Amino acid sequence: MTYKEAFKESLESPETFWARAAEEITWYKKWDRVLDASNLPFVRWFAGGELNTCYNALDRHVESGRGDQTALIYDSPVTDTIKTYTYSDLRDRVSKIAGFLTALGVSKGDRVVIYMPMIPEAAMAMLACARIGAIHSVVFGGFAPRELAIRIDDAKPSVVLSASCGIEVKRVIPYKPLLDEAISIAEHEPEKCVIWQRPQVEAELLAPRDLDWMELEEKAEPADCVPIAATDPLYILYTSGTTGIPKGVVRDNGGHAVALNWTMKHIYGIDPGDVFWAASDVGWVVGHSYIVYAPLFKGATTIIYEGKPVGTPDPGAFWRVISQHKVKALFTAPTAFRAIKREDPRGEYLKEYDLSGFDTLFLAGERTDPDTYHWATDLLQKPVLDHWWQTETAWAITGNFRGLEFFPPKPGSASLPMPGYDVTILDSITGEPVEPNTEGIITVKLPLPPGNLTTLWENDEGYKESYMDPYPGYYLTGDGGFIDEDGYVWVMGRTDDVINVAGHRLSTGGMEEILARHPDVAECAVLGVHDDLKGQVPVGFAVLKAGANREEEELVGELIRMVREQLGPIASFKSAVIVDGLPKTRSGKILRGTMRSIADGETYRVPSTIDDPATLGEIEVAVQTIGYGKK
Ligand code: COA
Ligand code: AMP
Repeated sequence: MTYKEAFKESLESPETFWARAAEEITWYKKWDRVLDASNLPFVRWFAGGELNTCYNALDRHVESGRGDQTALIYDSPVTDTIKTYTYSDLRDRVSKIAGFLTALGVSKGDRVVIYMPMIPEAAMAMLACARIGAIHSVVFGGFAPRELAIRIDDAKPSVVLSASCGIEVKRVIPYKPLLDEAISIAEHEPEKCVIWQRPQVEAELLAPRDLDWMELEEKAEPADCVPIAATDPLYILYTSGTTGIPKGVVRDNGGHAVALNWTMKHIYGIDPGDVFWAASDVGWVVGHSYIVYAPLFKGATTIIYEGKPVGTPDPGAFWRVISQHKVKALFTAPTAFRAIKREDPRGEYLKEYDLSGFDTLFLAGERTDPDTYHWATDLLQKPVLDHWWQTETAWAITGNFRGLEFFPPKPGSASLPMPGYDVTILDSITGEPVEPNTEGIITVKLPLPPGNLTTLWENDEGYKESYMDPYPGYYLTGDGGFIDEDGYVWVMGRTDDVINVAGHRLSTGGMEEILARHPDVAECAVLGVHDDLKGQVPVGFAVLKAGANREEEELVGELIRMVREQLGPIASFKSAVIVDGLPKTRSGKILRGTMRSIADGETYRVPSTIDDPATLGEIEVAVQTIGYGKK
């Protein structure tokens, strides 16, 4: 099948296209309907079908004779460990973890929060939940206790699975105190916390709530896979919206398994037995889809890498992992390549390794800027493929293909719409589709293909409001861009208050809410400004309350600490300035776009609606004091 044929069929006859893909999944009961779009914007894929996600990821490979094949490689330069798990090993451990969860009273539909570092037990925990139909919600380790508490209150887990610590290069971060603090902040109280004790730190267990994971697992009876409705939730993953309240993206079991399994061959060119490496974290959607589920659905080998692209121990770390484990395709964020380039611009470290088995580099999380594209392509002499997607979609909306048809990449573009995605650029004011090469807001015509979010957790209204109501009949992606004359999609950035810092999605609105809690702050703005390494970093602007006579350096230090403590270190919030006033329109709207242009050192037009043009001059001076603006 050509790309054109696949794309056409996926839009004109989605039921034929996805039913064929669904044949590769093992079902207890086949679906009654492939697609039920009778209640748009809510879409149900494979209604009436029953399957088990964990069975499709593990057991079926063991039963078909692949039990001795490596399923997972744990490569941890920070603990100097490399460990492999076969499909049988993984199935056995996951069954026991599912067994102790069952013994703790967890059953179908119950929520389990997973707050863990990049260790194999994190993936096992997810699969164990899937095995018994519990809904997991993984919270990224770099979030602060308050963020964890918000997620605990929304998901209301009966059990939390965690570990004693995470390791950030050389820094050991005890997780248990963070978990304890989160539970003390949260209104909802999980009944049990099960802790994986790592040798670097022994967590103090508080009886009777806390339990030792290893002890439970040793004693547990293995639990078998439970048939789950295709339309039942597999997981909730919280992601940043435009406010401090994250959105609980809900994913189903059936559509997710079908779509992700399809992507492994068609997008990534991966067959059973190949080694696929997504250098991300299980706390993000990339980790859910491409560290855990998709490679295992396909019967491939996946890698859990507990390290960084640089500093663990050097900028050759990625080349070492690729050559040592015979990785066929790597998926990471452009920022990782910028980090390597910064430390090893001529790629000297690459010379020490044999990358002959390596086929493709996939990048996502932020736009691949042409510089990074060219640097990586020249260095690797392999295809470097940008593809665009979101937590909401679970897999790429646009991209290129290693298993369907390969198209010449255009540096700076995220290539072509994937089958199933009718990507449409709308004029933000009229809501009408625009001509090629005209920038607008990027939407996807409904219905969304399988694997996409089905709703927000216990918040159907929020789902409609955020994504579906603004342009009826279309899913609002939150990104802006255009489609060129060849059909290539160019994603140029968010059109809302979401920023991407080192490929991590964060809400500037959420950071503003934190700054506004400071007793001396009258009003504030947080903007994502350009950063050579991380793509964007947040910068805060605060106006003090009348009479607040504070020394700037000390106050800025307090603001930075607040964001680190209340949102987490992952925000990389390291710069803020105090200003007399924020530039606003006469109706009181903060002119964020103009402020961002100033901070990025771009030329800008003074908006005709501005209330006090003098505020712009002040912003120019202020951003220069912290190293931004016109050089
Ligand atoms: N637990 C606790 N803290 C964490 C953490 C975790 N799981 N993950 C990150 N942090 C901390 C870091 O230690 C750092 O703290 P610091 O400000 O005290 O140094 C902060 O959060 C920011 O982390 P990070 O974004 O990783 O930045 P970095 O400066 O340590 O490293 C890169 C920069 C480019 C090397 C790194 O961002 C990277 O490897 N990115 C790869 C892209 C990626 O994984 N994207 C995910 C989507 S595909
Ligand atoms: P997340 O939900 O964390 O995966 O972040 C999704 C957001 O990251 C998207 O809405 C985009 O703004 C950005 N993004 C991800 N991949 C790309 C890409 N390839 N090109 C441009 N932006 C991207």
